[in-house]
Amino acid sequence: MQITMVGSGYVGLVSGACLADFGHTVSCIDTDAQKIEALKAGKMPIYEPGLQDLVANNVRQHRLSFSTDLVAAVRGAQAVFIAVGTPSRRGDGHADLTFVYQAARAIAAGLDGFTVVVTKSTVPVGTGDEVERIIRETNPNADFAVVSNPEFLREGAAIDDFKRPDRIVLGVDDKRAEAVMTEIYRPLYLNQAPFVFTSRRTSELTKYAANAFLATKITFINEIADLCEQVGANVQDVARGIGLDKRIGSKFLHAGPGYGGSCFPKDTQALIKTAQDFGAPIRIVETVSAVNDQRKRAMARKVFAALGGSVRGKTIAVLGLTFKPNTDDMRDSPAISIITALQDGGARINAFDPEGMDQARQVLDDLTYFYDPYSCCEKADALVIVTEWDAFRALDLNRIKSLLTAPILVDLRNIYEPDDLARHDFLYAGVGRGSSP
Ligand code: UGA
Repeated sequence: MQITMVGSGYVGLVSGACLADFGHTVSCIDTDAQKIEALKAGKMPIYEPGLQDLVANNVRQHRLSFSTDLVAAVRGAQAVFIAVGTPSRRGDGHADLTFVYQAARAIAAGLDGFTVVVTKSTVPVGTGDEVERIIRETNPNADFAVVSNPEFLREGAAIDDFKRPDRIVLGVDDKRAEAVMTEIYRPLYLNQAPFVFTSRRTSELTKYAANAFLATKITFINEIADLCEQVGANVQDVARGIGLDKRIGSKFLHAGPGYGGSCFPKDTQALIKTAQDFGAPIRIVETVSAVNDQRKRAMARKVFAALGGSVRGKTIAVLGLTFKPNTDDMRDSPAISIITALQDGGARINAFDPEGMDQARQVLDDLTYFYDPYSCCEKADALVIVTEWDAFRALDLNRIKSLLTAPILVDLRNIYEPDDLARHDFLYAGVGRGSSP
């Protein structure tokens, strides 16, 4: 199959490289000439484990290429994926579809022969209808079908998620398009990945429903964690105790500082707006979003409390800045709200993150950056772990204690055991692991 991927960002690049790895010929397109030049030179615009090698290998085998020439790449392609960004629209929280519609117009100009146009970007219900209308208006003779095929991959585990998906959702209202999509994903079909064929609108909504449900699960356990702290219970045991019930499931029940990233915050907002517009407000998601927003900043209170009520004039060492490990993505990271609240309280911040410091420099001011966890702790008055990178899971606690002015650890991801830390004479605060009142 000859495939064009419009948009070489996170989803486009990972999907393009994986589809090439299945044996398809894939051309990844972007309007950003610098990004395309860098990709041609083997430089990835994002940090994602395994991506650099996957790209290099498929470029070497002539299955994967990069270009800014969208129209040329669309000619002869059997499928054109739209994988451009759909950020939150300023002011109202709706998904901004400018890039999707621009892509649709540009694709229309290059269509020749039957082509399937696939929206992989996360788009609100009805976007596929509008993409179809735009293409028909721009090129009335085009022979095409528009399909919705949302992506469920997670940053940091994206290649594995693409190649071993829990399911593939395809919103297809056209038989010829169904045959093309089946052929594209045949390698996964052979791996027995379940396919959900449905209508285009249902598929579009499925993506938002999935992210909103996961965000709800996280927010639920976070609020249970708050209660655990008050009543002297342990949220990790509660999570295990409920997660073993197959109807609930054990995933996405890790209490922490609130969800962040480029997907959950924006997708919950977009779903809330769509639901309100259609007169069917989803109040549970409205609450989830509001609770999560408040939570991030509120996490700073744990640091205030550990330091006796005030951080004024104190230096706080922060380990982990990205919204989750194995990514350099800072978008909506809880670290932003927490650090800002600490700075507002008069603290100086030392920081270290294995991959996120370049991105952090663009969104956070007045941090002192270090290049390993230990130098970050030197002469700091407390250590706060915000993101659970593996590199922070087995720190030399004696060394950390000798570097800090006081042995205080606020662990917002529960990667340490309270008893262990007590044995090392640390004042330790986790999330949802209260001691009996
Ligand atoms: C999420 C979904 O998991 C993917 O299925 C989806 O494809 C993607 O959004 C998207 O829409 O593109 P991602 O944002 O990469 O993926 O990361 P997650 O692993 O889902 O984590 C999101 C946030 O939730 C992180 O801040 C993480 O720390 C937090 N989280 C996750 C928790 O606080 N507790 C958990 O138990 C799980």
